[in-house]
Amino acid sequence: HHERTKVKNIQVIELGRYEVDTWYYSPYPEPYNGLDRLFLCEFCLKYFGKRSTLLRHAAKCALRHPPGDEIYRSPPAGPGSVAPAIAMFEVDGNRSKIYCQCLCLMAKLFLDHKTLYYDVVDFLFYVLCEVDNEGYHIVGYFSKEKASQGGNNLACILTLPPYQRKGYGRFLIAFSYELTKKEGGFGTPERPLSDLGNVSYKSYWIRAILEVLHAGRGSMMSIQDVSNVTGIHPADVREAMGTLQLTQYVKGDTVLNVTPRIVEEHLQKMDNRLTILIDPARLHWTPYV
Ligand code: COA
Ligand code: NA
Repeated sequence: HHERTKVKNIQVIELGRYEVDTWYYSPYPEPYNGLDRLFLCEFCLKYFGKRSTLLRHAAKCALRHPPGDEIYRSPPAGPGSVAPAIAMFEVDGNRSKIYCQCLCLMAKLFLDHKTLYYDVVDFLFYVLCEVDNEGYHIVGYFSKEKASQGGNNLACILTLPPYQRKGYGRFLIAFSYELTKKEGGFGTPERPLSDLGNVSYKSYWIRAILEVLHAGRGSMMSIQDVSNVTGIHPADVREAMGTLQLTQYVKGDTVLNVTPRIVEEHLQKMDNRLTILIDPARLHWTPYV
């Protein structure tokens, strides 16, 4: 892609309490394009060239959460837990164009392939936040086409670098499948996936599939059965299980080749993985029509 060859322009963004080193080029408009450092409003994601301008903006900006519906809020943390409360917002690219464009411009700083910036109207944006007394702090998001022809249940996904490797990427992926399950059927992320996208999906698929097989202990599940329960596309089930060599080729068909014992062994190896569980009962959402 064209953007890939462009030299990274903006080196650092300041966002809320974080100073974040950028990874890739992003087409912020002139004159911001030529600046080393951008100052972002952590709530509306507008960008400024100077801290003083941001501060003047912040004094007026009334937003304390993404401009959409809160569709999920984590259960209250148990006693002694330090886990922050999290909330998910659904933002409509058509109703909140500027916000979604600013979100995409920021995301491009961490994505090396071309992604949309300005044509946001056909997408919904699911924005994940940590919640505290000051407001809702953006952690990451994924976008989803309102009517995907290719059966994609996710277009773009990002966990902002200060929040990476804490299980939020997995949470976002899991959330995209929760929506798919409510819609009925199955979905798959838009290709190409980045390297990090690829490891995150592989890891998610493998664990989600093994957990379903584990729960269905003793019962014979086909790839299609697993897909029906998880919302994961059968081709992705096949591929993920293939990488663990848990498939076999029988009469021209790829089928699962597992025993309860093998499933258990694999799951045990993954015991220490970070997981932020989704409570489907707390998801207040109906499919877009
Ligand atoms: N190196 C190796 N493994 C990594 C990794 C890294 N830098 N970052 C994440 N992973 C693995 C984790 O170990 C975890 O696997 P495990 O559960 O088997 O241990 C899995 O990926 C998910 O980790 P998690 O902490 O939930 O993900 P994250 O919050 O760091 O987010 C991305 C993952 C892909 C969303 C994040 O890296 C990102 O935003 N990258 C930039 C944008 C991008 O490339 N998006 C994908 C475009 S298709
Ligand atoms: Na993408």
